[in-house]
Amino acid sequence: MSDPLLAPVTAAPAAATLGTAVRGFSAAQPVGVGQVLPDVRKPEELARPHVVQFNRVTKTYNPGQTNEYTAIKEVTFVVEDLVNKGEFICVLGPSGCGKSTILRLIAGLEPQHPATSGEVLVLGRPVTEPGADRGMVFQDYTSFDHRTVLENVTFGLECQGMPRRERQELGREWVKRVGLDVGKDSNKYPHELSGGMRQRVAIARTLILQPRIILMDEPFGALDPMTRMNMQDLLVSLWRSVEATVFFVTHSIEEAVFLGDRVYVMSNSPGTILKELTIEPSDRPSREMQREPRFQETVFFIRDLISKLEEGRD
Ligand SMILES: Nc1ncnc2c1ncn2[C@@H]1O[C@H](COP(=O)(O)OP(=O)(O)O)[C@@H](O)[C@H]1O
Ligand SMILES: [Mg+2]
Repeated sequence: MSDPLLAPVTAAPAAATLGTAVRGFSAAQPVGVGQVLPDVRKPEELARPHVVQFNRVTKTYNPGQTNEYTAIKEVTFVVEDLVNKGEFICVLGPSGCGKSTILRLIAGLEPQHPATSGEVLVLGRPVTEPGADRGMVFQDYTSFDHRTVLENVTFGLECQGMPRRERQELGREWVKRVGLDVGKDSNKYPHELSGGMRQRVAIARTLILQPRIILMDEPFGALDPMTRMNMQDLLVSLWRSVEATVFFVTHSIEEAVFLGDRVYVMSNSPGTILKELTIEPSDRPSREMQREPRFQETVFFIRDLISKLEEGRD
């Protein structure tokens, strides 16, 4: 608590901090490489600053019409701003449970934004529109077809008005950092690239802009298993170097447990967050970690949890 930025500013700071310690640690249930928190943490339980905060957020599409649909209901969670570190947050849940809705509310993208009710805060302020503090990587390959790899990677810098030589230099650095070959790949067009290479371009294009928050919507969902694991390893090493908060949406339990420092498990119809887990950092390649019994124990625990919840609903 010596860092003034981390000092609690809630009405009852000591109690709030103690509450976090008790809930977050003492009462957490260890399961393999993870800890299951007794409850999803609420904003008032945590010291500020918060990087992302949802206060009872509900999103109803097409309100008042016959096709009215509530995608997420009363979603509350909070992610601290770990300065110079960032946290890797995974949002895990079945298709249609509202993962993209949550991510796009953080991004400030319509029609998910604005929420029907509740509050979405980023770095302490209500989200009103997209901003440079948040970068997004989608599942679909979103590069511009008529631009080369280097031109796609440097697109954001071009929009910001960075001079050509400077942005090309930075662009080549990022082409290399995401594991592409500067000499061979920089001048290729998207149709000349594999799915994995295209997602490398998408990651470089987002990270080059140094967002504080990186939003990723099932970015590896369309990749084959080997490529997917390589991309997971790449992402962990890049994330460590950029020190941003990552929100990573996936329906793969293994992917969430490997990547996440913290995993939110969601349920369906309407979507809510059921459980929050903290997970040990991944310190070995994905294909190694995924074989270990402690890793498997966490995966099976979450799998059972989800199927129990599905049964309970029937
Ligand atoms: N623009 C929209 N209009 C109407 N319904 C939508 C819209 N976007 C999403 N939905 C519905 O809301 C639910 C949650 O969607 P989404 O957040 O995309 O889920 P996920 O990303 O978890 O698959 C789904 O049932 C989906 O059909
Ligand atoms: Mg989605």
